[in-house]
Amino acid sequence: MNEENGKNNKPFEYETNNLIRSNFNEKESVQDLENIAPKPSNQLTNGLLGWYSVSSSESIKEGKLNHFTIYNEPLVLYRDREGIVRCVKDVCPHRGASFLGGEVINGQLVCPYHGARFSSQGSCTNLDRITCQHIIDSNYDSYAKSIKLFQYPCVEKEGYIYIYYTGTPLANIEDFQIKSSINSLLPDSYGFPSLEYEYEEVYVDFKADWARIIENHLDILHVFWMHGDTIPDKNVNRETITSFNQKIKRDNRQIESIYSYKTNGQEEFIRIKFVPPGRIFIYKGSPESTRYIQVLDHIPLGNNKARVIVRHYRKFLKNKLFTNLVLFSHLQRRTFYKIFTEDYLVLKTQTFNDQMGYIQKDNVKLLGEDKMVQYYWDWLQNALNKEKPWDIHPTNSLTNTVHEDRGMQYPPENPNMAIKNNRQIIIKLLTRLLFPISFILLLI
Ligand code: FES
Ligand SMILES: [Fe+2]
Repeated sequence: MNEENGKNNKPFEYETNNLIRSNFNEKESVQDLENIAPKPSNQLTNGLLGWYSVSSSESIKEGKLNHFTIYNEPLVLYRDREGIVRCVKDVCPHRGASFLGGEVINGQLVCPYHGARFSSQGSCTNLDRITCQHIIDSNYDSYAKSIKLFQYPCVEKEGYIYIYYTGTPLANIEDFQIKSSINSLLPDSYGFPSLEYEYEEVYVDFKADWARIIENHLDILHVFWMHGDTIPDKNVNRETITSFNQKIKRDNRQIESIYSYKTNGQEEFIRIKFVPPGRIFIYKGSPESTRYIQVLDHIPLGNNKARVIVRHYRKFLKNKLFTNLVLFSHLQRRTFYKIFTEDYLVLKTQTFNDQMGYIQKDNVKLLGEDKMVQYYWDWLQNALNKEKPWDIHPTNSLTNTVHEDRGMQYPPENPNMAIKNNRQIIIKLLTRLLFPISFILLLI
């Protein structure tokens, strides 16, 4: 148990940015990055296995199960009795049922098949029986004591849920050898004072390869061509012919590219920072003073299936009443949905080309502006060869898609969230107009 959590059993506070809640003692388990043998300064230390941001805090409600997969492995997130988020393998140790359709009762996970209940530590708590009195196994007491859930370390910080993913969940959280610090991902550790920002958030699920989506977010050129009509910046459109200087910085933690105008006194255009395995920061200017940051988290749900959580932090328009009134977050969401829909076809077809082996060095020729993609590609190849995360829980064409069917959240495959968002905009606008219109009608 984390020292801070042990003393602090207050009800859970979603909004408190500094709050850290975790199901293991990070301080004791983390082998600090500095203690890892030094590498050349342009090589990223973190590989594909390690910390992933997998959800926002708000999405993990008490009493609810949240199913997802990572590298094809089915997992479930829920809050235990103390409000601490648990990340459990979605397989009941009695007869292997999924917890889909199960419950959380008093912070205990309950299997939908025969009602086995599990404590936060993953032990079976129905020591008397499972659901009914009909157990005839005279060894039942020792049986119940012998079955355990498998878990991954989980940390809740600054409104995000992070898991430490290794491909092998363990019965005792304390047994994990954690090789990288969660700090290597946190916005604050890159100088962004996250307490000073408000944010909106969007989930987008793509049926496309995880790595192609990350490349897309490191690809500066497509922004002008594909999103020119959508991004509200006069310099971002198909017609503007502007050339940029590009400065790429690489160290053990990140690859960052800073783009600035060649004219206009070298004014900065944008910065893109990649932090492995799946986080990207997009912002402008120095981290301390930037007015907005986009934080994009990429989750490799499975083959051809990935989730992106986009959080847009801003220092402007912070008045809640005003932003509610002008439907700011709905409008932001609409822009995000549009941008991701624009990307989607290319992501799907590029995934196909990649799988067919068409995106090989001999077939494609990169531009100078693709340097960031090249560096990312080098890191990815290295990490894939070394860790082979897709080989841990392989699936094939015969594997059923129950998790995919249940779990996919947003467009472009399933545009329900975008439609719902648009509907809300219309309804809210109408209700807002209703009062002044009826007032005018009364006067007439
Ligand atoms: S399979 Fe879960 S209680 Fe039987
Ligand atoms: Fe895009």
